[in-house]
Amino acid sequence: MTSQATNVKVGIAALSFFVPGSYLGLETLAERHGIHPDKFKVGLGQKKIALTGFDEDVVTLAAEAARPILDAEGVDGIDTLLFATETGIDQSKSAGIYVHRLLNLPPNCRTVELKQACYSATAGLQMACAYVTRQPEKKVLVVASDVSRYDLNSSAEATQGCGAVAMLVSADPKLLAIDPIAGCFTEDIMDFWRPNYRKTPLVDGKFSTLRYLNALKQCWNDYQDNGGRAYEEFVQFCYHLPFSRMGEKGHRHLAKLANGDPNLDRCKAGMVYNREVGNCYAASLYMGLASALENTEIDLTGRPIGLYSYGSGAVAEFFAGEVQPGYADHLLTARHKALLAERTAVSYDTYLALREVPDPQDGSSVEMPRLAKGQYRLAKIDEHKRHYVNAFN
Ligand code: HMG
Repeated sequence: MTSQATNVKVGIAALSFFVPGSYLGLETLAERHGIHPDKFKVGLGQKKIALTGFDEDVVTLAAEAARPILDAEGVDGIDTLLFATETGIDQSKSAGIYVHRLLNLPPNCRTVELKQACYSATAGLQMACAYVTRQPEKKVLVVASDVSRYDLNSSAEATQGCGAVAMLVSADPKLLAIDPIAGCFTEDIMDFWRPNYRKTPLVDGKFSTLRYLNALKQCWNDYQDNGGRAYEEFVQFCYHLPFSRMGEKGHRHLAKLANGDPNLDRCKAGMVYNREVGNCYAASLYMGLASALENTEIDLTGRPIGLYSYGSGAVAEFFAGEVQPGYADHLLTARHKALLAERTAVSYDTYLALREVPDPQDGSSVEMPRLAKGQYRLAKIDEHKRHYVNAFN
């Protein structure tokens, strides 16, 4: 029988993200659209759109994100893989199963895909924490991976991006112990959605920004009603970042609600990476968390970080975690900074070409050209089956 622990600290033991090797600079998009570049740089707070090659998708991004964690920690104790995405590749089979094989996870590790727009990784993290609280010797790998593509020439186009984040959830976590208290909010709205027959989402952009702010208020009120921490306790806040300016607006909104200091210093470190990547949906908040931990200059040990997760449709949650002693020794800061720095800017025409991802719907066979810089790639699609390989084997 496994012991039932109640006082054990549970949370994020390791945190790793991956972005592909190409991007479109937003000044290129602005020039092409005849828009002043400051609209994107200042108005949205964004610099780049991360782009996948034809042989990259949510599976390869996720496997790349998780690889460094498994290299450092091994697979012992991992008996659950939760894969959060809203840009999945199959209506039935979890994208996580391909990742399970690519990472050589044990066969007795359960795998499932979670969906609720950008919120699903938070559901995964909370489920993982609840599970590990019940069985503290177990570990859960939570992976969030998404490719955000909007219609060409839409106002949302500048907020595209892609990326994946992997988190290992365990007892006595080395990075962030997640508080049991949270504040949640669900409402049935059409601010952003993607019917099964569409490759790009439909979005009521301005409405979505208002619902994001309203949901933040509802979550914060629920969090306070549940006995949550006071605003002034938080050393940093991380927000879901569809674009970083949204997080700034969220922060001012929260400060006003809580009668707190609206200084943006307590949320800017969390925005450094997302400006360089764009919206990576389910992964966005957790790329922001990596950014906050890796770019805050003061020692965060013992200090709480507030996290706001929003997924259109809509579900939102405010929760918190306490930074653990020695956390800085377990961050992948150098790797993450190198990944972002060592990318190549593409031309507008290449950007257009990269949108034309081969998608054989008649069972024919398509070999994907080698564009991925990482070790995992989608080698071909054949008879409606996707073939993923480890290019280093
Ligand atoms: P837009 O039409 O580009 O908006 O769409 P805008 O014309 O209002 O411009 C944006 C800002 O740039 C404005 O500032 C302008 O003043 C400013 P604000 O009024 O916000 O303070 N601006 C300039 N600033 C400096 N110099 C200039 C200049 N020109 C203009 N020269 C919109 C913006 C966000 C609506 C659009 O990009 C969009 O639809 N994006 C997609 C939806 C989205 O990201 N929504 C966010 C909340 S919902 C969410 O986060 C969920 C999501 O991640 C999906 C999921 O959950 O799965 C999206």
